[in-house]
Formats: sequence, structure tokens, C-alpha cells
Amino acid sequence: MTGAREIGLIVNGVPRTASAEPRRLLSDFLRHDLGLTGTHVGCEHGVCGCCTVLFDGDPVRSCLMFAVTASGHEITTVEGLAAGHAGGLSPVQRAFQDSHGLQCGFCTPGFLCTVTALLRDNPRPSDEEVLEGISGNLCRCTGYQNIIKAVHRAADIIAEEAPEADR
Ligand code: FES
Ligand code: FES
Repeated sequence: MTGAREIGLIVNGVPRTASAEPRRLLSDFLRHDLGLTGTHVGCEHGVCGCCTVLFDGDPVRSCLMFAVTASGHEITTVEGLAAGHAGGLSPVQRAFQDSHGLQCGFCTPGFLCTVTALLRDNPRPSDEEVLEGISGNLCRCTGYQNIIKAVHRAADIIAEEAPEADR
């Protein structure tokens, strides 16, 4: 199939439009058409999770989705995770920084998106639940121990910063 289509979606809270071929991958669309290079591409086969973004709040692999599929939906990339958080970083981002949950950082955008959704759905995950939650994301550097620590640290930060009424 050929012929560019107009794609309209909300990216990191901002309405965006661009034209793309129907076969254009969402990962390439975000990186090359919208300039959001925080979404990394590793395997391009749905294995490594580096390209994970939030699609209407849920983690998806953007290398396995066509950009046209995202038309009319909300996408959050790593560039948008800190929106509305004081200090320029979200609790999950701060926790990864505090706990040394990254080395080269290539896998980190995908982990940050995955963990953001994980903690929204399960604010106090057990070690086993953390392992299951991040099992779709591969890291070649860290050995995962500090990433697991970072997830628990992020849960603490989110709980500490929650308004009293939410506790
Ligand atoms: S680049 Fe998408 S899963 Fe590896
Ligand atoms: S920090 Fe390097 S691949 Fe995960």
C-alpha cells in the first residue's frame, strides 16, 4: 500500500499532525517525523522493549505498531514523563537516578515508560511483581539489581509525594 496519510494524535499532551506512509512504524514516526529521539530502537522485532512508549497510558512496543494505528490516540514518550512534576524529573526518573538504575542509558526510556505504568497500576509491587513487570525490557548493562531497587525507590517517592487524601 502506498500514499501518505495524515496522522493526528496527542503526543506528550500536545496535538500533533504529520503525514506518513501506512507502513511507517510508530517508532520511526516518533523519532524521525516528530523529532522525539528519546524513544530508542534496539531490536526492531519486539524483543528488547527499548522502544516502549505509553499508548493511551499502556506500555506498547512502538516498533511493532504502525503510526497510522496511533491516529486519534494519546502517546507518551520518555520526553513527556516529567510533565507536571516538580524539578524536571518524574518520581520514576529520579528513582533511576538515585539508585543508579542505568549505565549506558540505551534501555532506560523503555524501562521508564514501563515502570511508570506498572506503578500506576500497582503502587507497591513485590520483587516478583517487579520482575514480571519489567520482564519485557532488556538491559545489557546493569544486571537488573539497581533497576529493581529503582522501582521500589520510585514507589516510595510516589507514596511520599502523594497528597494526604490519597494515602
Ligand atoms: S526496538 Fe522495539 S522491542 Fe526492540
Ligand atoms: S543501561 Fe545500558 S542497556 Fe540498560
